Amino acid sequence: MDKGAIEGVGVKDDITRVEQAVNNRATKEDVVGVKTRQDKLTLAAAALCLSGKVSYWDDRYTKDPEPFDWYQRYSGIKDLVAAQMKHEDNVLMLGCGNSRLSEDMLEDGFTSITNIDISRVVIDQMIERHKDKPALVWQRMNAMALEYPDESFDAAVDKGTLDSLMCGEGASANVAKMCMEVSRVLKPNGVYLVISYGAPDSRLKYLQSDDYSWTVSVATLPKPAISAAAIPDTKDASAVHYVYLCRKGGTAEEGG
Ligand SMILES: C[S@@+](CC[C@H](N)C(=O)[O-])C[C@H]1O[C@@H](n2cnc3c(N)ncnc32)[C@H](O)[C@@H]1O
Repeated sequence: MDKGAIEGVGVKDDITRVEQAVNNRATKEDVVGVKTRQDKLTLAAAALCLSGKVSYWDDRYTKDPEPFDWYQRYSGIKDLVAAQMKHEDNVLMLGCGNSRLSEDMLEDGFTSITNIDISRVVIDQMIERHKDKPALVWQRMNAMALEYPDESFDAAVDKGTLDSLMCGEGASANVAKMCMEVSRVLKPNGVYLVISYGAPDSRLKYLQSDDYSWTVSVATLPKPAISAAAIPDTKDASAVHYVYLCRKGGTAEEGG
């Protein structure tokens, strides 16, 4: 799909339909028909799905350098993070984009967060934006080929990155590669937190592989764009994001 088609889409309404289109490997027609609520970047995911080009992200961050958090801000996941991770943990942020998650975690007391992204553009922007925060390290790196030694992190956080790998060509193989790498760099009993729009039937088959023997549990979070009063039931897939708590050995409830 060419970028022009995405840019031409109205940008105000119905993220859910775009997400479903992304999940189902949408055709150009699926996405163009959407009237969006607020989220140009969800359309960007559709574009990535359809183009399969990682250079899409460089282009996106060049045109839109303002901080943006996919799905949830830190406030939305803070309780889950607190239950699974400790402030002194050595944390790996996978596919950081220009999210404020790492700076919010730093503000909350975390002391060491290494942020990687495939986009050179966004990494350069984040190095410049956070040059006064030495506890935040920024490196251009492919999550499928991590350049870190085995067992170097206590925790890895992924908000939207596994979802983006689920799009392009070779999705299953790419997700498996990233999971293998995350498993390799996590310390024993380390945790991998995946924040995703994907329901368990589309995600657990990747996360519960025997290759990395994680203990996986699932939590849901209300989507912030929808008021609490509008959510009658958190099992309604359209009203929630999913958090996959993957513990390397042990049980996913451990930590904190
Ligand atoms: C949906 S955005 C999420 C950004 C951010 N985590 C957030 O929550 O706002 C996905 C991010 O993953 C990055 N990404 C995609 N494939 C990647 C890969 N193979 N390795 C590292 N980063 C990747 C993209 O550049 C993009 O910044």
